[in-house]
Amino acid sequence: MIKTALSHPNKALVIYWGNENDTLRIPSRPSLSVTLEGINHPLDYIVSLRTIGSSERDKVIIDGTEDKGQIYNQFVYHLNAMREYTGFKEKLEVTTRKSFPVGSGLAGSAASASALAEAFAGLIGKTADTRLKSIMARRGSGSASRSVFGGFVIWQKGNSDESSYAKQLFDENHWDLHNVIAMVSSSTKKIRSIEGMKLSKKNCPEKIYSEFVRVANDHIEQISTAALERDIAKLGVLYEKENYLFRQVCLRTTPPLDYWTKLTDNILEKITELRNDGIPAYAGTDAGPNVHVFTAPKHVQRVIKMIQEIEGILDIIHCRVGKGSHLIEEHII
Ligand code: PMV
Repeated sequence: MIKTALSHPNKALVIYWGNENDTLRIPSRPSLSVTLEGINHPLDYIVSLRTIGSSERDKVIIDGTEDKGQIYNQFVYHLNAMREYTGFKEKLEVTTRKSFPVGSGLAGSAASASALAEAFAGLIGKTADTRLKSIMARRGSGSASRSVFGGFVIWQKGNSDESSYAKQLFDENHWDLHNVIAMVSSSTKKIRSIEGMKLSKKNCPEKIYSEFVRVANDHIEQISTAALERDIAKLGVLYEKENYLFRQVCLRTTPPLDYWTKLTDNILEKITELRNDGIPAYAGTDAGPNVHVFTAPKHVQRVIKMIQEIEGILDIIHCRVGKGSHLIEEHII
């Protein structure tokens, strides 16, 4: 049997950074994101899963090449976690194809782990069980729990394996909000998010980290209202505030986690200038140097033009609010 799933990354407006339980990925704070679908450039992660019943081990083929190292271990760890929930025992061949760099701060892990969970749910006939899919995706990467859904998504913190999963707030048709990603680097970051957040949880001064945790529910509430009202100014101010807090947590971690480059700073400054000219554009980052600018469709070209003028930009990816993970008929095996 073969099942194939496609999924997209998401951009957190209220950020996940740190776990109460690292194995289960029960987060320290709830988070809220927007699932992103590329317009000028696909942001797709595709996973085909094929049962290979007689084989003794799983097989992982990434972009045409069999992996037997770190990526293989990550996939098998995730598959085994999902087997525990479902009792599914067969060995699997995993084949993946992506259209964007993973590990560079574009939330590739959210897309890959949610695609894997979606394909796995397809194999066991549980595609309708979004709670289980979100929990299974979470075991691969926390943010993947959100990419199971399209549109605006909240990952409620929960306090146990069963209670920590994401839910859709508004679907992808609710609000035509656009996101322009200024690509500053496509190389893999030195400290992966999962390692970085462990350091922050452990080493960031308690006062700063606990404040970051404390404000999350309030930010989720306010951003939910802004999304309901389709109020970009309200949403944007909170998005930038979250980004600032996240930056403080990272910088005050020992050793400091500085995911930005000079170019990141330049872009953020230019977006502030644009706003001073009356353009509703709001910028933030992930755990990486690339900048995500939220704006309204009619201002996208102005934002893109402004970014293009900055020297050193690698690429610009224009996105809309996207769909959640779903099964497709075109297998890549
Ligand atoms: O899901 P992970 O383990 O790749 O961590 C993602 C962390 C951030 O992207 C920085 C924040 C988030 O909420 O997506």
